[in-house]
Amino acid sequence: MRVPALIGSAMVVAFLQSPNSANAEEEPVLSLSTDSSFHFEVLVSLSEALYGGSDLAPVLGAAKNITPGDFESFSQAFQKLAYKTKDQALDEEANYDPMNVRETWFSAATYFRRADFYLHNNWTNPLINTLWDEQTNAFDKGLSSLPVPGQRLQIPADNFTVEAIWYEPMSHQSKNQTSQRPTLILGNGYDGAQEDLYHTVVVPALSRGWNCLTYEGPGHPTVRRKQNLGFIPDWERVVTPLVDYLLKDRSNAVDKDKLALFGFSFGGYLAARAAAFEPRISAVVLDGGVWDCYEAFSPNLSPELKELFDSGNKEAFDEAGRGLLDDPLVPSQARWGLAQGMWAFNTQSPYDFMQATKKYAVKDFITQIKVPVFVVDAESEGFFSGQPQRVKDALGDLATLHTFTGAEGYHCQAGAFSSLNRVMFGWLNKVLPK
Ligand SMILES: *[C@@H]1O[C@H](CO)[C@@H](O)[C@H](O)[C@H]1NC(C)=O
Ligand SMILES: *[C@@H]1O[C@H](CO)[C@@H](O)[C@H](O)[C@H]1NC(C)=O
Ligand SMILES: *[C@@H]1O[C@H](CO)[C@@H](O)[C@H](O)[C@H]1NC(C)=O
Repeated sequence: MRVPALIGSAMVVAFLQSPNSANAEEEPVLSLSTDSSFHFEVLVSLSEALYGGSDLAPVLGAAKNITPGDFESFSQAFQKLAYKTKDQALDEEANYDPMNVRETWFSAATYFRRADFYLHNNWTNPLINTLWDEQTNAFDKGLSSLPVPGQRLQIPADNFTVEAIWYEPMSHQSKNQTSQRPTLILGNGYDGAQEDLYHTVVVPALSRGWNCLTYEGPGHPTVRRKQNLGFIPDWERVVTPLVDYLLKDRSNAVDKDKLALFGFSFGGYLAARAAAFEPRISAVVLDGGVWDCYEAFSPNLSPELKELFDSGNKEAFDEAGRGLLDDPLVPSQARWGLAQGMWAFNTQSPYDFMQATKKYAVKDFITQIKVPVFVVDAESEGFFSGQPQRVKDALGDLATLHTFTGAEGYHCQAGAFSSLNRVMFGWLNKVLPK
């Protein structure tokens, strides 16, 4: 009786950040762990190497010391690598030039973020803050050694503050002009940090002559920690202050007719919501397309848990849900997904978390988007299957659906960021004014 319930629940909470594959033979790439959640998260760590955020063998070396199913071992392996890399960064003789400085500090920052990833099941664990402070300090060292240093910004919203980082490419000195450039506003999803977006889209965007503004709102790592705020569904409250900022404070650098909004993972919902209420955005990228969070997971509840949830018996459902968090029999993906959801939505109640997800659906406003939308689907993203297509259908000719397949077909194109960027910038080039 208990086991099917657990598996059913596991599938429910697995939807936001996972490869769907259950075993190595089903993975489209070489397996990095027998634990499918760890496999995916190691692949994510490797992914950031392409744009200066990690190194391959050190990550694979850390992965070798991780015990499947053991969150603490995942954290410890990456802590060890993070502190070792930080030591390298502190060696002043070795860091004789800005390139050495940023590559070492950026990698240390990535490893600190990775070490934090599975820890949110216990909110009083002090590592949640200490590792994050380490990642922020390390990342800031990298930012200040960029050819054009990245700038941290705190942008006021109605009753919270958006954390952001502004990046711009090197100017073409010979032309001696302040040119207004296309600009990407980039937000992450259920768990990722704005720093991850630097090693995903910002580096190749700068190379292509774009400005970038990454940001975090309520529910995202820094705002969740510093302002104690979980996700809010009315995401235009986060993005509109950013557009105000760009068009006012950065008007010399920003081409107001080429302002694109990018939402990663669960950020596919957030960006769609913001774009529906923010007409100054010129194009939207939803990677991936999210139609309705609750609708995506409720059919996968075990019948027992679904019945308990629908009965409104919050106390019993909370007890069952909390029982999953530390149960080694529950797949890592499920334990992590539930713990991360409760943390990011800022509730200790599995019941309230699941109720909250009902507000994250686009059907009531998606047709208010009046600009081109790139909707990304991924073959190995089983849970959302059909949802990107529904977003595309609702938008009709305004939307282009692109499906990444095979080895490129993981959630958010983990391990295939070059492919993602080539395809995405090709589309942006096509739809933005010449
Ligand atoms: C959570 O972490 C704190 C601090 O490390 C510890 O004292 C406490 O026992 C942990 N709680 C659980 C349920 O593991
Ligand atoms: C912030 O504003 C929103 C919407 O106006 C409101 O629902 C919320 O309670 C406010 N939060 C705080 C902490 O004041
Ligand atoms: C660039 O243009 C500005 C304004 O026209 C001028 O003051 C400045 O001397 C120029 N700089 C160079 C390096 O040509």
